Amino acid sequence: MSVLCEICDLSVTYFGDVDVKVIEGLNMTIEEGEILGLAGESGCGKSTLAMALTRLLENGEISGGRILFQGQDLVRASEEELRKIRWSRISLVTQSAMSSLNPVLTIGEQIVDAIQAHTNTKTREAWKRAEELLSIVEVDPGRVHSFPHELSGGMRQRVMIAMALALQPDLIVMDEPTTALDVVVQKQVIRKIKELQAKFGFSVLFITHDMSLLLSIADRIAIMYAGRLVEIGTCQEIRTAPRHPYTRGLLNSFPSVFERRELTGIGGSPPSMLAPPNGCRFHERCTLVTERCRTEVPRVTNLSATHAAHCHLLEEGVTSG
Ligand SMILES: Nc1ncnc2c1ncn2[C@@H]1O[C@H](COP(=O)(O)OP(=O)(O)OP(=O)(O)O)[C@@H](O)[C@H]1O
Ligand SMILES: [Mg+2]
Repeated sequence: MSVLCEICDLSVTYFGDVDVKVIEGLNMTIEEGEILGLAGESGCGKSTLAMALTRLLENGEISGGRILFQGQDLVRASEEELRKIRWSRISLVTQSAMSSLNPVLTIGEQIVDAIQAHTNTKTREAWKRAEELLSIVEVDPGRVHSFPHELSGGMRQRVMIAMALALQPDLIVMDEPTTALDVVVQKQVIRKIKELQAKFGFSVLFITHDMSLLLSIADRIAIMYAGRLVEIGTCQEIRTAPRHPYTRGLLNSFPSVFERRELTGIGGSPPSMLAPPNGCRFHERCTLVTERCRTEVPRVTNLSATHAAHCHLLEEGVTSG
C-alpha cells in the first residue's frame, strides 16, 4: 500500500474570546484505497479534522503542521489550488444531506452544476452522467428531476454520495454520513459505500462515534481523544487487541462489539478544550492512571508495523490486559 495523504503534527485552533486549540500534534496517514475509520466521543475533533482536510474550516485555522496530499501540502495551498482539489480530488459527505443540498434545485441540476464547475463536460453529457451516478448509488435515475424534499433521507444521503463520486476523487471524507438514518437504511448505505469503494478504489476517511459500525466497514481505525490521536491500527488489531484504555472503554460501550462482556463504558465525560488536562488527556477518567500520566504527554509506542498507541503503560512495557 502507498500513502495517499500524510497528516503531520497537525494543530487546529478556533477563534473566540480566547483561541482554543482543538486538535494538537496529530500524526496520521491515509493509504491509497483504504477505508480509514475515525472514532472518538463527541467534541474530540473529528469534524474539525474533516474540515481541516478539505480546508473548509469556519472560524478557525490550521495553526501548525502539514497535510501532504499526493505530495502537495494542503496547508500551504492557495484558494485557487484548493478549488481545483475539492470535489475533483477530495470530496466531503456530511451528516446532513438536507442542509448540503440546495432545496430550490433538482438533484440533477446540482449534480450537473458540480460536474460543469470542474470539467468542460457538455450539458447533455453531464445530465447523462448525473443519471449514471444516481444508478450507481441505486437511486432510480428517473429521480433526476426531483427536488431534495421529494426524496427520503436515505435517498438524499445516496445523492450526496453520488455527488461526491461525480469527479472520481481519490479521497472521500465522510463525516457521520449515515447517522441521521434509521438502522436498516444505514446498513444499506454503508454496504453501498463499501461496494463502491471496492469497485472504484478511492480512499475513505469514515468518521463516526459508532465503534460497531466502524468495525464492520473500516480497514484501519484511528481513535481520537480530546484533540489527540490515542491509538491507530488495523480493524483486527483494534477489535482483538486494543491497547489504549480509552479504546477499550469505547469498545466496551457498544453491545455488539463484545456481546458476552458486561458493558462498562467510560465513567465521566471528555474535558473542556478550553483547559485540557496536562499529561495524558485521558488520565482523569483512566482507571490505570499513574503519577506520570498526570504530568507527561505519552509518546507513541509502536506495537506492530500497523498498530500504535499513546499510553505510558505501553512505554513502560506494562500490559494491562
Ligand atoms: N466553529 C467552531 N468554533 C469554535 N469552536 C468549535 C467550532 N466547531 C467546533 N468547535 C469545538 O471544537 C471541538 C471539536 O469539535 P468537533 O465538532 O470537531 O468534534 P466532533 O468530534 O466532530 O464531535 P461530534 O461527535 O459531536 O460531531 C469542540 O470542543 C467544539 O466545541
Ligand atoms: Mg462531528
